[in-house]
Amino acid sequence: MESLVEARAPEPGLVLFRLWQKGDAPATAGIFDLAFGPGRYAKTAERLREGNRHLEGFSLVAEECRGASGIVGAALVWPILIGTKPAGLLGPIAILPRLHGQGLGRKLLAATLAQADATTTTDREVIGEGILLVGDLAWYGPFGFVGVGDRVQLPGPVNPDRILLRPKSGTDAAAGKGAAGQWGGLAVPAFRNLRSG
Ligand SMILES: CC(C)(COP(=O)(O)OP(=O)(O)OC[C@H]1O[C@@H](n2cnc3c(N)ncnc32)[C@H](O)[C@@H]1OP(=O)(O)O)[C@@H](O)C(=O)NCCC(=O)NCCS
Repeated sequence: MESLVEARAPEPGLVLFRLWQKGDAPATAGIFDLAFGPGRYAKTAERLREGNRHLEGFSLVAEECRGASGIVGAALVWPILIGTKPAGLLGPIAILPRLHGQGLGRKLLAATLAQADATTTTDREVIGEGILLVGDLAWYGPFGFVGVGDRVQLPGPVNPDRILLRPKSGTDAAAGKGAAGQWGGLAVPAFRNLRSG
């Protein structure tokens, strides 16, 4: 699929959002290591990522265009199944600490969700109509994520209050809660569903 986040002529200091590319792997790993430390591999959400491949057509980086430009943030999206329905798993998402609190995290999240919303029919077989993540409702709620509690199970222990789903209905909370109610079951990696990665 085409990226919604076109690379524009870079201005000094500007942060652009673009699709993740293979050459971004070392910088992306460095940002996640800094944000989460080695403990990130022990998280239950990691059970949906190990052996899986994130989707290059849906995963984004934030790139700072200042002097030697560099990756300052990243958000990865992975193919999973919830019960029998395809969905995307969002995460990790992180911004370099020196740039926290400037709105980049929210912009990166919004751009990633816009990319997911712009799926074609073929993409939808991979990413489905919902995005799952494990995170804080306070931060993700305004973007249309709602708690699905123990209706959706993960392959390991996790606080059910942190299992959040964003049905494709957008940011309307009532519609989102209704649509999320149609989701349920065990979340598993969808190794065989790769089309875009
Ligand atoms: C979460 C993260 C990506 C936000 O990036 P950012 O560029 O600082 O985000 P923004 O500037 O758009 O927003 C910052 C706001 O979000 C709030 N916020 C950040 N993380 C939050 C959380 N987990 N829960 C609630 N609010 C949170 C901040 O307190 C701040 O609030 P304010 O606007 O009222 O001051 C960044 O803090 C980060 O990389 N953290 C480490 C990795 C991480 O925790 N990722 C999320 C995993 S679920």
